Amino acid sequence: MSTSLPARRVYLETYGCQMNVADSEVVGGILCANGYALTRDIAEADVVLVNTCAIRENAEQRIYGRLGLFSTYKRRYPGMLVGVLGCMAERLRSNLLEDGLVDIVVGPDEYRKLPGLMERAFTGERGVAVRLSRVENYDDLTPARADGVCAWLSVMRGCDKFCTFCVVPFTRGRERSRSLESIVAEVRDLAVRGLREITLLGQNVNSFRDGHYDFADLMRNVAAVDRSMRIRFTTSHPQDMSERLIEAIAEEVNICKYVHLPVQSGSDRILGLMNRTYSVDHYRRLMHRIRKAIPGVAISTDIISGFPSESVSDHRMTVDLIRELRFDGAFTFKYSPREGTKAWEMEDNVPEEEKGRRVWEITELQHAIALEQNTELIGTAVRVLVEGQSKKSRYEYTGRTDTNRSVVFPHSDEQPGEFADIRIDRTNSATLFGIRVGDVIRAASQSLGGTAA
Ligand code: 5AD
Ligand code: SF4
Repeated sequence: MSTSLPARRVYLETYGCQMNVADSEVVGGILCANGYALTRDIAEADVVLVNTCAIRENAEQRIYGRLGLFSTYKRRYPGMLVGVLGCMAERLRSNLLEDGLVDIVVGPDEYRKLPGLMERAFTGERGVAVRLSRVENYDDLTPARADGVCAWLSVMRGCDKFCTFCVVPFTRGRERSRSLESIVAEVRDLAVRGLREITLLGQNVNSFRDGHYDFADLMRNVAAVDRSMRIRFTTSHPQDMSERLIEAIAEEVNICKYVHLPVQSGSDRILGLMNRTYSVDHYRRLMHRIRKAIPGVAISTDIISGFPSESVSDHRMTVDLIRELRFDGAFTFKYSPREGTKAWEMEDNVPEEEKGRRVWEITELQHAIALEQNTELIGTAVRVLVEGQSKKSRYEYTGRTDTNRSVVFPHSDEQPGEFADIRIDRTNSATLFGIRVGDVIRAASQSLGGTAA
């Protein structure tokens, strides 16, 4: 009989971008390799870790709320550890230890130190590890991923762009890429495990460069691993969207025809203050080139409303640009000043209420555009990758089109991971609804691509 103690259990909660989801899987891999077990039940956890986001003030407020709740658990279960990981850990460092709620603080480049820090914290020694690295990319580690349909895979870390509003270059450090070979090997492994969709991730994924290959090479190599697997990527900077990448998306059948391309503002003056390094016209021409080269492509964007000195006329330019370019999706954020950034030095002079009003106007306009676009699909059939049960009903499945539109339909004999053609019969601005037509398309025998009608 073994005399070893049961593994200590870690509850890991993740906030923020997909990069954090991928990082949490790396953390899970490190912990499991060091004798810890992951649990989904906070009540049985010896350690609670929260992987955090610092992009906007409200993201941090939410996490402070969680830390407050964890402190009540700590009172109930003395000896339980609380650790803060990720961007907020990097930004606030040892300040997070001050009120006694937190035992460990670990930034995005120091996850290998977690097991050692946790061991010491169990003996009462609290610890901080927040050095940023120019080389750490966790290339050699196996993330702890659940089996499923879709996987996130980070291919580069950090960002060198220094947009003046953004805290990421400070919390995640300089750009560095993994090697193409290790990424392709990981994708092969995921294909064998039956995953059907891989999203390659990076803060600025198009600037992937491993010394031999660029991002277009990487996309083509990853796509060739298994043609029945969908490949996506995010996020792109409009300055780094190369013609070779556009060609790769157009030519490789299993690269999804979907590009997330944040524009941030429709005013050249504001783009200049943001240090975005492109003009509205550059963006417009790029979008036209992408649409011409990739028929049926969907393009979504990010917008910040209420950047310092944004006037009503700057805002109008953004609204007009959205009306002109008709994005397939837009995420709009109220500007949030972040300490340490260049924009922090600028006066945050658009009142909160006005920021809210501008966000609302953009969101309403984008909803109307999305509704028109979705309405055009009524009566056509779209091919979806079935992801699983819809949130609202156990009788319905949800999936996404190649162009990243959500589709909900009553399920019959199809299974998550299979492709199905759905004839759309109604829609709102966010979701298409329909019924399945034809047989399901199983991985071995399917041809990928756009609409099936
Ligand atoms: N305030 C508001 N939005 C921000 N973003 C990044 N930094 C800030 C900030 N300080 C938005 C940008 C980016 C997205 C991920 O978050 O639009 O593209
Ligand atoms: Fe932030 Fe700009 Fe880098 Fe995106 S490109 S992570 S917005 S600094």
